[in-house]
Amino acid sequence: MTPKKPATDTDWHNIWQRMMSKCSAIGLGENGYLKQWSIDEARDYLQHAHTEYPEALIDLIKIDAEDAVLDIGCGPGVIALPFSKLAKAVTAVDSSSGMLQVLRENAKAQKSGNIVCVNKFWRDVRVSVDINTEYDVVVSSNSINLLASREQTINGKPLQDWSLVDAIAKMNHVGKRVYLTFHLSRDSFSEVFKVLGREYNPWPNHMIMHNVLYQMGIRPNFNVIALSNRRAGDSETWLRRIDWLAKLSLKEEELVLEYLENNKRRFYDAHQLWGVFWWRN
Ligand SMILES: C[S@@+](CC[C@H](N)C(=O)[O-])C[C@H]1O[C@@H](n2cnc3c(N)ncnc32)[C@H](O)[C@@H]1O
Repeated sequence: MTPKKPATDTDWHNIWQRMMSKCSAIGLGENGYLKQWSIDEARDYLQHAHTEYPEALIDLIKIDAEDAVLDIGCGPGVIALPFSKLAKAVTAVDSSSGMLQVLRENAKAQKSGNIVCVNKFWRDVRVSVDINTEYDVVVSSNSINLLASREQTINGKPLQDWSLVDAIAKMNHVGKRVYLTFHLSRDSFSEVFKVLGREYNPWPNHMIMHNVLYQMGIRPNFNVIALSNRRAGDSETWLRRIDWLAKLSLKEEELVLEYLENNKRRFYDAHQLWGVFWWRN
């Protein structure tokens, strides 16, 4: 067989955009836009966040006491809270007011007075108005694909406009060092969708993201973080996460719970693997 000539003109951003526009792992609200987190959901998220994960990231990033950090898609503060104890200042951006409220209550409890919250979609954030013009460290933890979203209404219909290139160009504009973290472990949701007999369209994987970065002229470093999974939650926690995304009927809940109970090791005992792309500007 004659090997195919490698395509040199593949538009990786277009591939990424097409995958995002039909990805089954994106939670959508009743209004058709990205689902917003309630305060209880945000608290639950923080409660089950992995404590070893920010520690491993701190080891990699090596925050200096004079550093200004920008945490985009910060959620309830999984990274912003521990980083604020080491850095001079942290700016935390998130589109969810529920997530930011939980971040603020935890910042108060741990007496971190150096966190500023910005409640906006990343692509709508105005540089030098909502955030500063320069940060020593920019981090997007477990959120990079979603940070590329922007809500639009076309002919009265909700529409997500996806641009990873736009989101990353903006990070580069303000950041001296940029860190993007993402799950490398198996995509557990795909298995659950199979059990439910539903079609599943996955996230674009990190290879696709790498190719988009490469075509933007970025040559990222790549690190892997391996963790035990001791705080990932039990079957009930997983059921809540799956329901958040897939809106299960009662019958489906029973089916998923039974599946989770029979596959504990795969779901919450297995080790977690994280990938980190990072570079200096
Ligand atoms: C999976 S959570 C990650 C939270 C946290 N960074 C972590 O490491 O656990 C993704 C977060 O990104 C936020 N988000 C989603 N799309 C966003 C956007 N376009 N701009 C800003 N935040 C966004 C969500 O509200 C959510 O809090």
